[in-house]
Amino acid sequence: MRAVVVRPPAPGAAVEEVPPPSLAPGEVLVDVVECGVCGTDRDIVAGKYGRAPAGSPYLVLGHENLGRVRAVAPDVAGWAPGDWVVATVRRGCGEDRFCRANRSDECETGRFTERGIGGAPGYMAEQYVESPTYLVHVPPPLRAVAVLLEPLTIVEKAVFMGQRVIDRRGTTPGDPPTEPPTALVAGTGAVGILAALLLKVRGYDVTAIDRHDDTTPAARLLARIGATHRDAADGVGTLGDDRYELVVEATGAISLDFDLAHRLRPNGALVLTGIPDAAAPPTSVRAGELLRTLVLENQALLGSVNANRTYFEAGIRDLTVFEEKWPGVLASMITARRPLADAPAVLTDRHPGTMKTVLTVVPGGAAGP
Ligand code: BGC
Repeated sequence: MRAVVVRPPAPGAAVEEVPPPSLAPGEVLVDVVECGVCGTDRDIVAGKYGRAPAGSPYLVLGHENLGRVRAVAPDVAGWAPGDWVVATVRRGCGEDRFCRANRSDECETGRFTERGIGGAPGYMAEQYVESPTYLVHVPPPLRAVAVLLEPLTIVEKAVFMGQRVIDRRGTTPGDPPTEPPTALVAGTGAVGILAALLLKVRGYDVTAIDRHDDTTPAARLLARIGATHRDAADGVGTLGDDRYELVVEATGAISLDFDLAHRLRPNGALVLTGIPDAAAPPTSVRAGELLRTLVLENQALLGSVNANRTYFEAGIRDLTVFEEKWPGVLASMITARRPLADAPAVLTDRHPGTMKTVLTVVPGGAAGP
């Protein structure tokens, strides 16, 4: 079968023939219909991230997936050919209590693998096999947008965790509040836009920043959902004196992360989801001021990575909510669909202002469109 193959840490990606997977007891065989391209994929192709499976010279790339079941092992219940499906990304170490509870996003040993990222084959291939433990049913009405589920799960977890941190104070005097809580989203790629959508349905007054003016598709989408867009190409000064209860970061830009910490209100939380480059040169930070404010204003900085299947299930519910509230908005996030053969070009081009490029792998999947 055809697959997008990388050989980390060597840069580059190619579409190659690889052996197809074969169905074993306890497994489901899935045709990959679509696979989204994200910053992590680009970092792997640039040679900055990623790891081939043990004993394999290459890694099949891709983790943002949508597929259709082709075949089911006789001992598997609950799945049938033709079902639409999204698979989770991380596979636990099996050694700690979190991984044993299918919560490998909280793995404590670090000995997990991630399909398409580190140590396990990904989904930019015509087929994969998987245990139902890691498969999530997609209701057919969501099939045109369900390739956005995996990036949404990153946001589901980040917002859930950030909200838990904000709620750490227990009951707030004067609840219910008279004004909506405020949130800032940094970055308007798919993760940032999905964060804006989720925070809107969670009742936040949302502002999102990027490095572009109001003419991009992302800025227009933000206007449509009633969020405020600000061009921060010249820095977060564009926000004036505004500060926010919850800040969700989706860029991985190190100096911006520190600027965002200064944008927290007292008792606020900054959740980082972008993955900074560990080899980036040291950054100068006014550490005294930052840490002093953190203490004196009860603020929290937290990181959030990956997502377990509970966030995939929450994401399915919220995709439906977004579709009902803003019909067509999710579809408009998919700014390009390209054939698998174009993967090497797509993975090395960057088009500022685009939200999500999706590779079409097996159009329609097993049972046709
Ligand atoms: C993926 C996560 C993964 C993380 C770190 C992200 O792009 O969406 O599933 O855990 O990269 O590898």
